[in-house]
Amino acid sequence: MNRMQHTVALVTGAAGGMGRAHCRRLAEEGADIIALDIEAAAPELAETAREVEATGRQCVTGVADVRDQAALDVAVADGVAALGRLDVIVANAGIYTDLGLSWELSDQAWQRTIDINLTGMWHTVRAAVPALSDGGSVVIVSSTNGIVGAAAAAHYSASKHAVVGLARTLANELGPRGIRVN
Ligand SMILES: NC(=O)c1ccc[n+]([C@@H]2O[C@H](COP(=O)([O-])OP(=O)(O)OC[C@H]3O[C@@H](n4cnc5c(N)ncnc54)[C@H](O)[C@@H]3O)[C@@H](O)[C@H]2O)c1
Repeated sequence: MNRMQHTVALVTGAAGGMGRAHCRRLAEEGADIIALDIEAAAPELAETAREVEATGRQCVTGVADVRDQAALDVAVADGVAALGRLDVIVANAGIYTDLGLSWELSDQAWQRTIDINLTGMWHTVRAAVPALSDGGSVVIVSSTNGIVGAAAAAHYSASKHAVVGLARTLANELGPRGIRVN
C-alpha cells in the first residue's frame, strides 16, 4: 500500500479519534504527516506520532488551537519546513459539545462551536493552502449534520453545513491547479 508515497499530509485534531486514524492510514499509504492539536492533547498527540512512526513514516507534531491563526501559521510553516512539501490538508479538528435545543443554547456554546468548527477550518485553509502542491487535495470534515438537521445541535449543524459551503467554494478556487476539495 503506497498510494501516498512521496507526499506530506497535514491533519488538525490529530491527537485522537478520527484525526489519529487519518494520520495512521495516510502513513500506511506512504505519506509523512504534520499532526496538529491543542496543548492539552500533547500526550495523545505524541502517541499519534509514535503510531505514524511505527509505519516507517515521519511525523512532525505541532501545537495549535485552530481558533488561533498566528499559532496555526507557525505550526504549518514549521511542519512544511521540516518535511519539505505539503500535498494534503485534512481539516478535521471539531467539537460536538454543549448540546441543547436551538433557542436554549448559550452564547458561549454557540460561539465556541462556530469558532472551532467553522472559523477553525477556514484558519486551517488560510494557513496551509498557500503551501499546497498543485495536484494536491483538501479534505474538510463535515458530518451528516452538515447535510441534514438533527435536534439539539443547531450550533454544530450550522457549522457543519457552513463548511460544506467552504469546501464547495475552495473546489472552484483550487480546481484550476488540479487540487481536489472534498
Ligand atoms: N465521531 C463522529 O461520529 C463524527 C461524525 C461526523 C463528523 N465528525 C467530525 O469529525 C471530526 C473529528 O471528530 P472525532 O469524533 O474524531 O472527535 P474527537 O473529539 O475524538 O477528536 C477531535 C480532536 O480535535 C481536537 N481539537 C478540539 N478542539 C480543538 C481546537 N480548538 N484546535 C485544535 N484541535 C482541537 C481535540 O483535541 C481532538 O484531538 C470533527 O470535525 C467532527 O465534527 C465526527
